[in-house]
Amino acid sequence: TRPLIIDTDPGIDDAAAIAILFNNPEFDVRLIASVSGNVGIGHTTRNALKLLTFLGSRIPVARGAQAPLLRDNQFATEAHGKSGMGSFEFPEADQSLLLDDNAVLAERKVLMESDEPVTLLTIGPLTNIALLLATFPEVKSHIAEIIMMGGSTERGNIGVYGEFNISVDPHAAKMVFRSGIPVTMVGLDIGRKARLTVEDLDRMGDGGEVGRMVSDLFRSYDGGHIEDGVKMYDPSAAMFLLEPELFEVRDAFVDVEVSSPITMGATVVDFDGILGQAVNAKVCVDVDVDAFREHYVERVLKARRH
Ligand code: BDR
Ligand code: CA
Repeated sequence: TRPLIIDTDPGIDDAAAIAILFNNPEFDVRLIASVSGNVGIGHTTRNALKLLTFLGSRIPVARGAQAPLLRDNQFATEAHGKSGMGSFEFPEADQSLLLDDNAVLAERKVLMESDEPVTLLTIGPLTNIALLLATFPEVKSHIAEIIMMGGSTERGNIGVYGEFNISVDPHAAKMVFRSGIPVTMVGLDIGRKARLTVEDLDRMGDGGEVGRMVSDLFRSYDGGHIEDGVKMYDPSAAMFLLEPELFEVRDAFVDVEVSSPITMGATVVDFDGILGQAVNAKVCVDVDVDAFREHYVERVLKARRH
């Protein structure tokens, strides 16, 4: 069992990623940290608490950054609904799961107290992680690796080349890529390829309470425009943790554009050493879509509320 921290902005696909990790024998999720992203920090924190309450999990939640380092907040309510969790009816949040410590302090504590290095899964903007690394650089050697949903090897979603998690807080993302910590980037192009079909949603919807939750959430994703399938952004990063053999990765030097007004937040993924910089990331370049769908749905169907 590997120790894991999830840093997240739930978020419909965030919830769908957490649903396959929360009671998984392969990972011991020690903390869920919220961050402002898809919706504001009040919503993302409440959504994390509601999700864990629904799942019957006792994983603690720490409230994170309320805004990016330099940019103003940009939300994604058109994809995730006003509350960030579509229209699924969750139970009231169990507030006893919420820690007094904020995300930076709580992440530091988990990292420093763990007797083995901890993996970080980041599926929201990287504000908390940048603040953590800047405030407590001693945590670096306690981080095994960062698996990140973010960036793109091709085009973007909120900019021509800018992906949401990176573009919302490009300065934070740049700090993370420069940190020297091993990073694996699972970008937009992978989530766009790894789509669930509407039949996959039907199968999950018929298969227990966790399946019904994931299926209901995804039916309202992207304003309900799921005829061409459901793009699996955050769940791809979660699946990478669980079954890396489903993905193809390549080494690259990755940096983030922070000064151009038209490409702000673009991830520059240099596979060929054109910039003459040392490799700082592994980048997913392909996924076995059929195996991904099959294994994801199976994992959701196996997940049980406690
Ligand atoms: C990312 O942005 C968010 O809307 C999703 O939750 C995902 O983390 C995709 O660009
Ligand atoms: Ca997310």
